[in-house]
Amino acid sequence: MSKILTAIDLFSGCGGFSYGFQQAGFHVVLGVDNTEVALKTFEKNHKNSKGLNLDLHKESSIDAIIDATGGKQIDVIIAGPPCQGFSLTGTRNENDERNSLFYSVFRVAERLNPKAIIIENVPGLLKLYGGKAKKEIIRLCDEMGYTCNPQLLYAPDYGVPQIRKRVFFVALKKDLGIFEFPEPILKEGEYIGCEDAIGDLPDLVSDLGKEEVAYDKKAFSDYQKMMRNGNKVLKNHVGTQHTDHVINVISQVPEGGNHKDLPMGVGDSRKFNEAWTRYHSKKPSKTIDTGHRNHFHYKWNRVPSVRENARLQSFPDDFLFLGNKTEQYRQVGNAVPPLLGKVLAEQLLKYLNYEI
Ligand SMILES: C[S@@+](CC[C@H](N)C(=O)[O-])C[C@H]1O[C@@H](n2cnc3c(N)ncnc32)[C@H](O)[C@@H]1O
Repeated sequence: MSKILTAIDLFSGCGGFSYGFQQAGFHVVLGVDNTEVALKTFEKNHKNSKGLNLDLHKESSIDAIIDATGGKQIDVIIAGPPCQGFSLTGTRNENDERNSLFYSVFRVAERLNPKAIIIENVPGLLKLYGGKAKKEIIRLCDEMGYTCNPQLLYAPDYGVPQIRKRVFFVALKKDLGIFEFPEPILKEGEYIGCEDAIGDLPDLVSDLGKEEVAYDKKAFSDYQKMMRNGNKVLKNHVGTQHTDHVINVISQVPEGGNHKDLPMGVGDSRKFNEAWTRYHSKKPSKTIDTGHRNHFHYKWNRVPSVRENARLQSFPDDFLFLGNKTEQYRQVGNAVPPLLGKVLAEQLLKYLNYEI
């Protein structure tokens, strides 16, 4: 490899996706988002990167992005537009303006002419409203001289200890070929479970912890060792004070269970799909979302800390989340698991180096 490849991250959030690119050796020049605190987290964790607070609906934002790149060649645009409009769990509104935000990715690409574009979203984007958005993305790629390959990826297949399915559209300049997705590295039965992911962290049972705590156990799995990566002080690992009612209800849910496993009349205040879910120690967690109410630790009668969610999303322990707890949970839940980002970035290198 003869030069450092560059990327910009649109709808960067805290930068889970681009952190994976950074780990694969890319220089992430810019992160663009309209949430200030997420950009602060982004800047804190990306070397020599700038966070730009812009509304990507606005045409003026496209100009601001081009200015901020300062004429530098950008090799890759990565983007995870908001997915609420496509989510099968949200209210489906075809006219939700968030559904059209992906157009901004192509407006930026038109000006920067990158070699590759990757767009990530929830699987719902492929099917809802007759697959309109999918067809649009493929059409725009073709019109702009890119091949486009969309594929659903299942995070546990790539070593992430979390059930998370997302669609990735990888567009390559036509002379670079058609992107082939990396083969899974693990299969069912080999997936990393919650205990191997977070079992070495302080339990926060008698002590809710504070913003900085020490590790009180040795790492006992390869995954934990990888996440610690020589890190000494643990941050973002603060417990939640639950009511006696919550503790009483969740104590009755077995590992891997949910509200359906509760005796009649217990926990009736929350009956929806994921309510009172307790993770299973030997299995990947449920999809980490932006809230922190419904999922509980596989062993302790409390919700996971931000750091535990971050581990389940494959953020290493030295990746710090800024803002209040709600903002931190949101940043973690919104992110592409860095490990998945890294696997894709490494695969992409095979196509981009072809030119150099
Ligand atoms: C799914 S998250 C992206 C997460 C990111 N890819 C990661 O890996 O961490 C979507 C992001 O889009 C941002 N966003 C929503 N509407 C926006 C807009 N109009 N302009 C810019 N950013 C927007 C949100 O603040 C949020 O951080």
